[in-house]
Amino acid sequence: MEKEEYLKKVQNSISTWIQDLEDRYIFNLFNSIESGKMVRSQLMFYIGQNRSDEVVPLSAIIELIHLASLLHDDVIDDADMRRGKPSINVVEGSKVSIMLGDIFYSKAFAELAKYQKEIIEQIANSVVKLSIGELQDVNLSKKFNSDENLYFEMIYNKTASLIETATKVSAILVGKDGAKFGEYGKNLGIAFQIIDDILDITQTAEQLGKPNLNDFVEGKTTLPYIYLYNLLDSPDREKLVSLHGKTLEESDRNWLLSKFQSSGAIEKSYQVAKHYSEKAIHSLPEENTKLVEVVYKLVDRTK
Ligand code: FPP
Ligand code: MG
Repeated sequence: MEKEEYLKKVQNSISTWIQDLEDRYIFNLFNSIESGKMVRSQLMFYIGQNRSDEVVPLSAIIELIHLASLLHDDVIDDADMRRGKPSINVVEGSKVSIMLGDIFYSKAFAELAKYQKEIIEQIANSVVKLSIGELQDVNLSKKFNSDENLYFEMIYNKTASLIETATKVSAILVGKDGAKFGEYGKNLGIAFQIIDDILDITQTAEQLGKPNLNDFVEGKTTLPYIYLYNLLDSPDREKLVSLHGKTLEESDRNWLLSKFQSSGAIEKSYQVAKHYSEKAIHSLPEENTKLVEVVYKLVDRTK
């Protein structure tokens, strides 16, 4: 099976589950949401290899949980765009976005109940981590955070834990080494989030499908900001902290971008993302050129 066919099957599987709910409004809302890159499913496909048909429904569960988390996240972040389109909280309101997330999340768990205990526990625990990570993100956003350890702990929980779980459970399902593939997913997930945080600074709004420098406006002190803080001298540091969580004037945006450029904070963040991506590759217990390629593509991506 080709990857595109696999991803289509995952989408169809989710679509069938939502159709089973027999609610036209929910089905229409589901169909109005762009499907995204489906990174987690791509990884599961490459791990499942010739048994990928068996992995399809497990992939669909992971994607549905991920989608549910984004519906909640857009309310929490007060976002207006998701995957290049106005987000559900804008189109239908926050209450609908939260409830739709709950429906998707619960349906995913209803489907998950059919699996073996180890897989159920793994996925359920990663949703706990995901939620703790989001809470840490919310609390870290209240003031400028210059502690990189807190940042790494938060991105592991918020982003890497579900990717770790996706790679682990697909490996378990097809009889491969769950722990090692889980390590691969975890390190890839950390690299993925760091790259995401870099792109928020280096890309244009058009490329991102949402405004750039938005993380800092939302109060998120991502890794490049932590490094920038450490590289700046005292007056510039104070200026950086004073801009945290505020709507940025054109002059502030230019100041930030020029400081990022001159300080090397972006480059330093890239090096860290590369370190995690190499760790991911070294975690692989088998020769799998596709899974290595995913890592390189991730580091080089521009959106
Ligand atoms: C996006 O982060 C958010 C996540 C990866 C996870 C959010 C998790 C929750 C809201 C908890 C989910 C709970 C249940 C019950 C499913 P981001 O804001 O950094 O990324 P973005 O730029 O794509 O919005
Ligand atoms: Mg968000």
